Amino acid sequence: MFLGKNILVGVTGGIAAYKSAYLVREFKKASANVRVMMTRAAQHFVGPLTFETLSENKVGVDLFNDANTSPTAHIDWARWPDIIVICPATANTIGKIANGIADNFVTTTILASTAPVLLCPAMNVEMYNNRLYQQNAEKLAGLGFHFVEPEAGDLACGEVGMGRLADPRDIVQAVHYCLNRSDEWSEKKVLVTAGPTHEAIDPVRYMTNKSSGKMGFALAQEAAIRGAEVTLIAGPNNLRAPWRVKVVDVDSAEQMAAEVNKGFEECDVLVMAAAVADYRPAKTAKQKIKKSEFGPAMPLVPTEDILQTVGRRKAGQFIVGFALETKNEIAHAIDKMQRKNCDLMVLNNPLENGAGFEVDTNRVTLIDRNKRRQTLPLMSKQRVAQRILDAVQTGLQKHG
Ligand code: CTP
Repeated sequence: MFLGKNILVGVTGGIAAYKSAYLVREFKKASANVRVMMTRAAQHFVGPLTFETLSENKVGVDLFNDANTSPTAHIDWARWPDIIVICPATANTIGKIANGIADNFVTTTILASTAPVLLCPAMNVEMYNNRLYQQNAEKLAGLGFHFVEPEAGDLACGEVGMGRLADPRDIVQAVHYCLNRSDEWSEKKVLVTAGPTHEAIDPVRYMTNKSSGKMGFALAQEAAIRGAEVTLIAGPNNLRAPWRVKVVDVDSAEQMAAEVNKGFEECDVLVMAAAVADYRPAKTAKQKIKKSEFGPAMPLVPTEDILQTVGRRKAGQFIVGFALETKNEIAHAIDKMQRKNCDLMVLNNPLENGAGFEVDTNRVTLIDRNKRRQTLPLMSKQRVAQRILDAVQTGLQKHG
């Protein structure tokens, strides 16, 4: 995700400093070059050696007395990063940055840098609510600093409220967003569906499939990075919401159909990545069905074919459908594309190694309206999402 990118992590003095160690590891795992700089207060919570080991680089701690740094270290460090991530960002450091104060390695480097800065605040709830903090944060947001807002929950001080550091996985997504964001699709509204659906048999049982939602979530994230206004209609899943994406949670095919039908008219692009159940139980029992009450067969009725319904209503929208096939793949996918009036079909075979449900990779063939095919090699679902959106972009240009 971050191959070749230089990420400078600034750690300031709060208990959440220990979580930034995990963050540094995640950046390294995603192939970034990482450097860490710390305030003196941060070193009360975690030692520089931890970050030196994890980042495989010397840690910047002192403007004047550090044998590892030159007299103009803050300038060298300020020119190096593609992004600066301050995690955790205390109220004190945020106040200093907002007022142009440069009195330690972290604040001086920020003042000297033109790189985008992502602040990840973590503090006590009353500090967070304090108008001085809020004014400083507002001022910085207005100046183009990025924020990953803290979460509400149990705080280290024993109090409960806003102020807990955002989940490091969300911080990673935010960094990805800040590094790659473009305005290419800033005029576009994109609707994406993801995940399986649950078709209730009774209050405790349901029919479903193996879809994890990963492909649809990656598509929603990549569309947001291109600047689109993205709504993700998601069946049951265990994934983090993508950054800057509106997520609408649904359970059944019927609920998903209602949401897609509602959003379709307004959207420019619909990506139907969800594995919608084709059938549901004819009746959903209000009480749990006893084992002895189950018959040898359960009557099923078809669900609405969402793609087919909206395909008939198409008025300029670009529609991407998915086809999951294990035999006669190309012929079936082309048939589906024509039947459901799609502009682009994404075909995959879950029986192939590294493809299909639950894994982080996929191997797909893209088929356009003119039946032109493009078979992509095995790659991460994130890269597949980028290639699908590239194909959408090509299709949109042809549409005029
Ligand atoms: N789809 C949908 N509504 C359904 C079922 C599927 O919108 N009730 C969409 C899926 O999101 C996907 C595409 O249709 O984009 C292909 O789904 P699939 O179930 O494979 O197509 P079917 O026409 O049902 O064909 P098959 O006989 O292979 O199941």
